[in-house]
Amino acid sequence: MATFSSHQTQTHFISKLPANKPRTKPMFTRVRMSYQESAPSVAVVGVTGAVGQEFLSVLSDRDFPYRSIKMLASKRSAGKQLSFQDKAYTVEELTEDSFDGVDIALFSAGGSISKKFGPIAVEKGSIVVDNSSAFRMVENVPLVIPEVNPEAMSGIKVGMGKGALIANPNCSTIICLMAATPLHRRAKVTRMVVSTYQAASGAGAAAMEELELQTREVLEGKPPTCKIFSQQYAFNLFSHNAPVLENGYNEEEMKMVKETRKIWNDKDVRVTATCIRVPVMRAHAESVNLQFEKPLDEDTARDILKNAPGVVVIDDRASNHFPTPLEVSNKDDVAVGRIRRDVSQDGNHGLDIFVCGDQVRKGAALNAVQIAEMLL
Ligand SMILES: NC(=O)c1ccc[n+]([C@@H]2O[C@H](COP(=O)([O-])OP(=O)(O)OC[C@H]3O[C@@H](n4cnc5c(N)ncnc54)[C@H](OP(=O)(O)O)[C@@H]3O)[C@@H](O)[C@H]2O)c1
Repeated sequence: MATFSSHQTQTHFISKLPANKPRTKPMFTRVRMSYQESAPSVAVVGVTGAVGQEFLSVLSDRDFPYRSIKMLASKRSAGKQLSFQDKAYTVEELTEDSFDGVDIALFSAGGSISKKFGPIAVEKGSIVVDNSSAFRMVENVPLVIPEVNPEAMSGIKVGMGKGALIANPNCSTIICLMAATPLHRRAKVTRMVVSTYQAASGAGAAAMEELELQTREVLEGKPPTCKIFSQQYAFNLFSHNAPVLENGYNEEEMKMVKETRKIWNDKDVRVTATCIRVPVMRAHAESVNLQFEKPLDEDTARDILKNAPGVVVIDDRASNHFPTPLEVSNKDDVAVGRIRRDVSQDGNHGLDIFVCGDQVRKGAALNAVQIAEMLL
C-alpha cells in the first residue's frame, strides 16, 4: 500500500479551488510559527488565481516564515478581502510600486505580467520566483526543481543585497522530471517520449469553472458554454490549447523538450511530447517512455523511485491499482506506477512509467515555495 509523505490526508473527491476564496485551515499553532519579525516580506502576485490560492495554502502548510505578506492581483480584484492564517487581507492592485521592501515575490499572473513586473521587482531588490514561461529559457535565469537541480540557484539568497529571478518550470515538465530524474541519474536517459493527460486546473481557475459548467450543461442536454476553450471539454478530450508552432508541436510540448535539456544540463537528450487536455478537474497524468544508455531493470527502477524524494510508488499489478489524478490531488508527492520494461527495446535499456502529480501544487505553488525556502 502506497503512503504519501504529504502532511494532508488522502482525498478521493474532485477538489476545486474557488476562484476568490482561499481554503481556511485550522492551523493556529502554525500561525505563530510562520509570522516572524526577522523573516522576509513576501508578495503573492496573482493571488486570486488557481496557483495564487495554492501559494497561500502551501505557505501556510509549510509554516513559511514571513514578517509581512502582500496580496496582489489585477484592478478587478483590488479591494477584495482574503483571509490567510486567520488574518484579513485586502487584495491590492499590482503596480510598479508594489515591490518596495518586498524580499520574495511569488509570481503567478501570466507571462505578460511577469515580463513587465518581474524586472521591476528585481530592480527593487526582490527575489522573484516566477511561475510563467516568461524567463524559463533565458540564459542565467535558473530553472529549478529543488529535488532535481538545486545547484542551479546556488548563491541566491535573501539578504544578498540585490534582486534576482528564478523560474519555476512548466507543470508537466516538473511532474515528468520528478520521476524520470532519479532513473536518469542511475542509467542516463538518452531519449524520452512523453504523452500527457492534462487537467483543467492547468489552465487556471476559470477553466475549472468552465469544465464544471459544461458537465452540468451536457448532462441537462444544453449546448456547452465554450469561453476558455474553443471546443467542448466535458466528455471530450483535445490537443493542448497552447499555440501550434511551425514544426507541428504546440508550445506546451516544446516546453517539455527545451526545459528538460536546461534542467538536466544536457543539450543532447532527445525528448518528444504529445500534450492532451482531458476533462479531469485537477492533477496531470503522463505516460513516459525512457531509453537509457546503461541497462536498468524494472525492479531496480522501482527501488530507486521508492527512495526518491517527493515521489511515491503506486504499482500494484495484482489489484490493477496505479496512480490516478484523484489520488494525487492536493498531495505534494508525484505518484509513479506501471513501471515495466519496454519490450520494444533491447535488454534493459528501456522502461515505461505512468506518472500523476498535482500540477497546481508540485507543478506550480509547492515547487515555487520550495525554491523560496532555499532562499532563506
Ligand atoms: N494552473 C497551473 O497549474 C499552472 C501551473 C504552472 C504555471 N502556471 C502559470 O501560473 C500563471 C497563473 O496561472 P493560473 O492557473 O493561476 O491562472 P488564473 O487562475 O487565471 O489566475 C490568474 C491570476 O493573475 C491575475 N492577473 C491577471 N491579470 C492581471 C494583471 N493585469 N495584474 C495583476 N494580476 C493579474 C489574476 O487576477 P484577477 O483575479 O484580479 O484577474 C489572477 O490572480 C500562468 O502564467 C500560468 O501559466 C499555472
